[in-house]
Amino acid sequence: MDQSHGICDYEGTSYRARFWDGQGREYEDLAERIALRKLLPARGRRIIEIGAGFGRLVDLYAGYDQVILLDYAKSGLREAQGRLGRSERYIYIAADLYHLPLAPRVCDTAVTVRVLHHVADVPAALRGIAEILRPGGAYVLEYANKRNLKAIVRHALRRQDWSPFAPEPYEFARLNFDFHPTWMAQALQGAGFTVDAGRAVSHFRHPALKRLIPARVLAGVDGSIQRVGAAWKLTPSIFLRTHVSGAEPAAEQGLFRCPSCGSLDLMRATEGLCCRGCGRTWPIDDGIYDFKDL
Ligand SMILES: C[S@@+](CC[C@H](N)C(=O)[O-])C[C@H]1O[C@@H](n2cnc3c(N)ncnc32)[C@H](O)[C@@H]1O
Repeated sequence: MDQSHGICDYEGTSYRARFWDGQGREYEDLAERIALRKLLPARGRRIIEIGAGFGRLVDLYAGYDQVILLDYAKSGLREAQGRLGRSERYIYIAADLYHLPLAPRVCDTAVTVRVLHHVADVPAALRGIAEILRPGGAYVLEYANKRNLKAIVRHALRRQDWSPFAPEPYEFARLNFDFHPTWMAQALQGAGFTVDAGRAVSHFRHPALKRLIPARVLAGVDGSIQRVGAAWKLTPSIFLRTHVSGAEPAAEQGLFRCPSCGSLDLMRATEGLCCRGCGRTWPIDDGIYDFKDL
């Protein structure tokens, strides 16, 4: 397996139980939903969430005919599958986002929330995402903002040695990065994306505030200032809606591309998807397309 970029592996980590359920993050969840609802194109044929985890946000994709949930951790996808079931509407793919196993231009919309902070090579990841979007297709993303108010204050008080104003990503723990808004804007532009709208999210991510004020109230106020807050971007989390340019529509082709040889010629067999280009067979494990073993 090519892991030259490093992968933050969530396999078997019970992310939902450890991070969300009863962990005091209702406010963050609600505030993120407000931002996503505002930025997502409401309808489309096919949406892909990359790094979808257990499918926390999937109910926001109701206007799409088909929903692809892609994640490196099969355990998260299995949880999503247990809740959402098996149908033509949901496609579960276990794969590395640096090697998306999808044909060019097959998705209308792509989403990454709480994922880019695990990505060491953002430009490479963005190039891959741009490739699978149809011309004009939307990419809605969230990133962790290094130039947030708390980091600025801590830096000013000399409680933090790294500068929130330096453009390069800051790795605060292994494979956990905060990004400067200008750096991210340039990376997006370099991959062919144009930013259309933004929202600054989680203005009130503070334990005392979260204890004192009900999550719904706090998230409602957050939602009402997310758009204006995007002008100065001082929150720990930033959401953007972008679109990818290009005029060439998708050719008549299947959904998948072999992540090993790049062939679009994959044939369904009983044991999985067989690539006619390199002869690899990609297993389908109980309803999950498995492209992990590169
Ligand atoms: C913090 S969780 C966020 C899950 C979901 N987006 C949410 O907001 O609830 C990060 C997810 O990104 C996935 N991930 C990290 N690196 C990845 C990679 N290289 N390829 C695919 N998924 C990856 C992890 O497995 C994990 O499920």
